[in-house]
Amino acid sequence: MKRQEILQMKSEAITLIERASSKDAIFALRKKYLGRKSAFNQTLKGLKNLSQEERKVLGSLANAVKREIDAALLCAEASVSVDFEKERIDITIQGKKIACGHLHPLTIVERDIESIFTAMGFEIADGPEVETEFYNFDALNIPEDHASRDMQDTFWLTQKGKKGENLLLRTHTYSVQVRYMEKHTPPFRIIIPGRIFRHEATDAFHEHTFNQFEALMVGDAVTVGNFKYIAEQFFSQFFKKDVSVRLRPSYFPFTEPSFEFDISCTVCGGKKCRACGQTGWLEVGGAGMVHQNVFVSSGYPRDRYQGFAWGFGIERLAMMKYKIDDIRLFHSGD
Ligand code: DAH
Repeated sequence: MKRQEILQMKSEAITLIERASSKDAIFALRKKYLGRKSAFNQTLKGLKNLSQEERKVLGSLANAVKREIDAALLCAEASVSVDFEKERIDITIQGKKIACGHLHPLTIVERDIESIFTAMGFEIADGPEVETEFYNFDALNIPEDHASRDMQDTFWLTQKGKKGENLLLRTHTYSVQVRYMEKHTPPFRIIIPGRIFRHEATDAFHEHTFNQFEALMVGDAVTVGNFKYIAEQFFSQFFKKDVSVRLRPSYFPFTEPSFEFDISCTVCGGKKCRACGQTGWLEVGGAGMVHQNVFVSSGYPRDRYQGFAWGFGIERLAMMKYKIDDIRLFHSGD
């Protein structure tokens, strides 16, 4: 077969392929032009008898033509495999709405807390969830016989720490305060959001695992007044309305004096309603001036600094904000 014949065959093949309109017809053309007994294979076989020069020229031409015919066949096969009428798409039909998830309410609340506090110059500190007895209790002036050290109130680990210390799942984020103070010198202001654990029977208001949030501000002359101002700023921004804070005397081993604090009811604004049990106030958390013994545990001289600390449950705040009536919902499946 000569060059001319090869080209002739190519144009004939392409014309036929373009005209073919059924799968069968295309299949027959594939067999005719590219099959084992096809003209090409004959040509390629025939090349053996030619001079080396001719073999090179005709061989590469035949291969190029073969590729072209194959491409035309593929194209034709694809076009007869699609029934365009059936496949017609109505691009004006409205799409299906994709259900889109959102952040967990606790994540939203934690991020809100962090952004309000960082805007007030607070840093965010973090510490381990598996804590030593020292940081969770001793360093916080919590005496040996305190009820919270009981097996009934705390998850103790059977494994001991590197220095043989007793280990537990931290019962409050306060444990991070001493860790932080050991490494930093006042003045500073920090917040400590984190997960904590208590050996509790669960009900609508109690969980064994929940999130707490701690704020600590220490300096030469930090007072309860600073605490009250910052707390009111925080709650007003968090609930996006004016919130006032009231302190009630209380007791915590790690603060002196200690308070529990309430915020004015976020539903009625203090006018008394069902949400606040007709008191006008909602209980939120604990607070106080850091006990000097805690400063001493952290390596500071006694009576050199003063500061306030406060803490409360993040779930409780989320429940107030989003009107969620059962704390267990936060960690249940749906
Ligand atoms: N740790 C307390 C609790 O878990 C809350 C608390 C009280 C935190 C007083 C504080 C504080 O920072 O000063 O209930």
